[in-house]
Amino acid sequence: MAAPITTDVYAAAEVIRRGGLAAFATETVYGLGANALDPVAAARIFEAKQRPAFDPLIVHIADRSMLAGLVREVPEAASKLIDRFWPGPLTVVLPKQNAVPDIVTSGLETVGVRLPAHEQARELIRSAGCPVAAPSANLFGHVSPTTARHVADQLGDRIDIILDGGPCHVGLESTVVDCCGPVPRLLRPGGTTLEAIEGLIGPIEAQTQSSDGSAAPAPGMLERHYSPRTPLVVWQPGSAIPAGRIALLTWSSPPADPRFVRTVDLSPEGSLVEAAARLFAALRELDAAGLDAIYAVPFPEEGLGRAINDRLRRAAARG
Ligand code: TXA
Ligand code: MG
Repeated sequence: MAAPITTDVYAAAEVIRRGGLAAFATETVYGLGANALDPVAAARIFEAKQRPAFDPLIVHIADRSMLAGLVREVPEAASKLIDRFWPGPLTVVLPKQNAVPDIVTSGLETVGVRLPAHEQARELIRSAGCPVAAPSANLFGHVSPTTARHVADQLGDRIDIILDGGPCHVGLESTVVDCCGPVPRLLRPGGTTLEAIEGLIGPIEAQTQSSDGSAAPAPGMLERHYSPRTPLVVWQPGSAIPAGRIALLTWSSPPADPRFVRTVDLSPEGSLVEAAARLFAALRELDAAGLDAIYAVPFPEEGLGRAINDRLRRAAARG
């Protein structure tokens, strides 16, 4: 039976309290939530998403006081990041308390925690009365959902309820920063920019690339991820394109190019914020258009452009 789509926060909270799965909106992307302290409920997330057990879940909280029940310590750099960027699109990875089940962290001694900015998400967590483990509400490896409809299309038959909180206004997942070592490390670029983070706490360690999924310290770093089914190519304007039904994903009003059967301009006025917010919906739409390929222009490697490029590069990776 297809999960109902509702705006009733309390109905969704009740599902989580009873050990079920509720998808919900955050400011980044929709999450697939379950009680983070209930290993059976958390196991259902992995099953519904077909997510490999080595890929840990982010635990969402409604206010900062919930952090103490999840982590053993909050080093100074993490504390500064939390003060500045919570609530918002930042996940901090910290040493975990025993109360956090191993299945949530894939056996790691650390846990990723996030306090979302979306009011309805916080209300859901508060009213569920527990921290909520939630990966993005898509099948593993696919594009993250930014509307309730996206969730229903992909996971509607596998979960209990979908809480509709409108379209996600950031549109890219949170930035993940490992704060366990002496110098924090970027595990995934996302909705909080590296510039903003380094402006606050100084240089942090760079994201390390892994082509071998099993060894990836953050499996969101798997080379192939965030992928439409249609082949995606990161394309330098001016370089050759093959014949076929190819669409262009671009931004900032480039001159029209008739070789593309369709052009999607993610932000005609050249706003990275707008481009990020529209990226995943555009990828889904183009994926459904029966194209031979999607060609995407690279974005400037700054601000949100860094996270957009990261998603495009992974969407383009084959195999
Ligand atoms: O914006 C977001 O972060 C969204 C919304 C729903 O909050 N969630 C999300 O979750 O994108 P997910 O599971 O799709 O991506 C979480 C990333 C994964 O790459 C995971 O490996 C990493 O965070 N992660 C979680 N816990 C970790 C840990 N203890 N150590 C290292 N990486 C961790
Ligand atoms: Mg995901």
